[in-house]
Amino acid sequence: MSTFIHGGTVVSPISAQPMDVLIDGGKVVALLSPGDTSFGSDLASSADTVIDATGKYVVPGGVDCHTHMELPFGGTFASDTFETGTRAAAFGGTTTIVDFAVQKAGERVQDGLAAWHAKADGQCAIDYGFHQIIGGVDDDSLKAMDELVAEGITSFKLFMAYPGVFFSDDGQILRAMQTAANNGAMMMMHAENGTAIDVLVAQALARGDTSPRWHGLTRPWETEEEATHRAIMLARLTGAPLYIVHMSAKQAVTTLAASRAEGYNVFGETCPQYLYLSLEEQLSAPGFEGAKWVCSTPLRSREEGHQDELWKALRTGDLSVVSTDHCPFCFKEQKELGVVNFSKIPNGIGSVEHRMDLLYQGVVDGRISLPRWVELCCTTPARMFGLHPRKGEIVPGADGDVVVYDPNARTRISVETHHMNMDHSAWEGYEIAGGVDTVLSRGTVVVQRGEYLGTKGHGKFLRRGLSSYLT
Ligand code: URP
Ligand code: ZN
Ligand code: ZN
Repeated sequence: MSTFIHGGTVVSPISAQPMDVLIDGGKVVALLSPGDTSFGSDLASSADTVIDATGKYVVPGGVDCHTHMELPFGGTFASDTFETGTRAAAFGGTTTIVDFAVQKAGERVQDGLAAWHAKADGQCAIDYGFHQIIGGVDDDSLKAMDELVAEGITSFKLFMAYPGVFFSDDGQILRAMQTAANNGAMMMMHAENGTAIDVLVAQALARGDTSPRWHGLTRPWETEEEATHRAIMLARLTGAPLYIVHMSAKQAVTTLAASRAEGYNVFGETCPQYLYLSLEEQLSAPGFEGAKWVCSTPLRSREEGHQDELWKALRTGDLSVVSTDHCPFCFKEQKELGVVNFSKIPNGIGSVEHRMDLLYQGVVDGRISLPRWVELCCTTPARMFGLHPRKGEIVPGADGDVVVYDPNARTRISVETHHMNMDHSAWEGYEIAGGVDTVLSRGTVVVQRGEYLGTKGHGKFLRRGLSSYLT
């Protein structure tokens, strides 16, 4: 089955040029300058599927390397299944996710991974891989890390937050990093000082400060910056590559940038919520409304200027990736678990459907270039987590994961129209200048002009290689 996409502007991480794209057998076969007849002069009539992309951008399918489908958290589960979450991702132009398999302390890592395979297998609309959360670092789990690398699980997340749940202490972090330094895996870190935060939370609750806003006030930027610094120092000590997830505090990014400037393999991601939303506007919404935006790290103060600094770091390269940390919970019965106590609100925001659109606004607003949009949302996450060149760039030999993006479309985000399994939207009423037109996964059209044409089970598990960023 061949597909010919013609008339558009192909955007790569380094350029935006008028080009036609030929896909066959699920793979990109060629990028052709307009008028190039080396694959035949009548592709626009002879290909099995012809897509006219005139006036549109042709970009690689998005790679969202931080999602949590069905994550158990706070006595409930993230509300998107692999079926609903990957379908929503496809609607938004994301054609690959990397989700987090969970090992809790006391469980075997292999059992945690098997449970994640069982949740995802046969359910997904788009391709998927797994990182592995190690919730209990011990001799067995360290050994399992080596086994998992051989199975294509080449990155491991530890938590400096959530004592008693996923938390690792410094000695455990050190040992896991030593293992990664040895087997080539990427360490991922949730960098917040969880034990200090727990004291601040207990003190706030004892004072009667129970509303969602206190979730943010009890996780001040110092707790993120301190943990970021500590994680980086342990990575430097062991020689492990380190990727800090969901960075929101400008001070933590400054700390990261300093070690990057010294040449260490330390990387950072941020998420759309930290670029657009704030402690003052969303988390402090009247009544219990702010619960919709309870996530960790928390939304930061706009007055303190975190959002502008994160955009700057995305432009300069101090931050490498934009993922969503998609972890949706419904307001009714899920977020409401914390109605009298903010610390019981399940942590997470759902955005898997909106990442490409939300970041495209950075292009419209002149904060990042068109190629940088593609680099942040597609190419670098693929390279970072061992999926490139199969994913993340439209080049011959890559999977035919392509998005035709219409800069003249207008998209209004709403719970009424989104496809995520959530009863609210953290982005309600957001107006996007631009919109996804057509989405192909391995050459198959899965979304066209708002209609889902994909199938459950089309998405396949991806065995990942080691990061392209390691020397
Ligand atoms: O609030 C968040 N981030 N929820 C998901 C779990 C995590 O820490 O990534
Ligand atoms: Zn986290
Ligand atoms: Zn997360």
